[in-house]
Amino acid sequence: MPPRREWHAARAARDPLSPVASLLRTAQRALAPCRKRTACAALPTDTAFLAGSRAPAKTAHTLFRRLADPCNKFSPGSVQALASQAPIALRKPVNVRVTSLAHQIWSQVVDQGDMVVDATCGRGADTLWLANAVGPTGTVHAFDIQDEAIRSSRVMIEEAALPGGTGHVSFVHDSHANMQAHLPKDAAIMLTCFNLGYLPSGDKSLTTQAESTLAGLKAASETTAPGGLISIISYTHHPGGRREFEAVQDFASKLPPEMWLSSETHFRNRQVAPALFNIYRLPSR
Ligand SMILES: C[S@@+](CC[C@H](N)C(=O)[O-])C[C@H]1O[C@@H](n2cnc3c(N)ncnc32)[C@H](O)[C@@H]1O
Repeated sequence: MPPRREWHAARAARDPLSPVASLLRTAQRALAPCRKRTACAALPTDTAFLAGSRAPAKTAHTLFRRLADPCNKFSPGSVQALASQAPIALRKPVNVRVTSLAHQIWSQVVDQGDMVVDATCGRGADTLWLANAVGPTGTVHAFDIQDEAIRSSRVMIEEAALPGGTGHVSFVHDSHANMQAHLPKDAAIMLTCFNLGYLPSGDKSLTTQAESTLAGLKAASETTAPGGLISIISYTHHPGGRREFEAVQDFASKLPPEMWLSSETHFRNRQVAPALFNIYRLPSR
């Protein structure tokens, strides 16, 4: 069995629909005449890894920027030119992951300069998405109860080399049940996202719990700005998951309809797919 990374690289090279496969080909062409091959060697393999894993284009942009600097191969203009191809590559396949669907919905609501909350930062994938979406003029408050989650999310953000730095992302090592104590008074939050369950590749016995999730949802409903969104990805296949899912369902169903619009989405032909709840606060009249 070839090592995982090589396996992804080989698969990505064969898969024309892979989201960043065209970036891989461009990178390989660009690197062909490079004399500093050792410094650049990681680029095609890492890009292939991203292509194989269907990572979002923004991750590929970040990788290009990070790898371009040490080898001085690309001018800022050529990095920009490479990066600008990613959205075109992304348009081809439909990414059926529920997180990808959630990000598409969030992008309808979140804008540069907004204040947003990641109620469960985990490994930081959603925090990074939010940090890019609100930009350096916005603010991301990212919560988690696990030290390990906060540490790996922080690394994710630092390594992303965000334009404008990381000063707009603040991490809070506390439960989202206490969210309001950490937010500015009268905060107007455009998005609060909850990706429930356990830390990926972490301790599976440490999961979100119905009671604290409900307290977090209540806090979110009190801080969401008109036109803002509360988004919840809820899993049912781990112990306590079904009870938590039903608590979220109950919360979403009982919100006053003159102020909120709530929806629940499932992939019908997947055995263990999570549910995606979106609770939209109607703009004030
Ligand atoms: C599915 S993971 C989140 C994934 C994350 N959004 C990402 O992009 O990687 C769920 C996280 O919720 C955290 N968590 C559990 N209970 C919590 C609570 N009461 N407040 C905040 N975070 C909590 C867990 O520690 C875990 O890291």
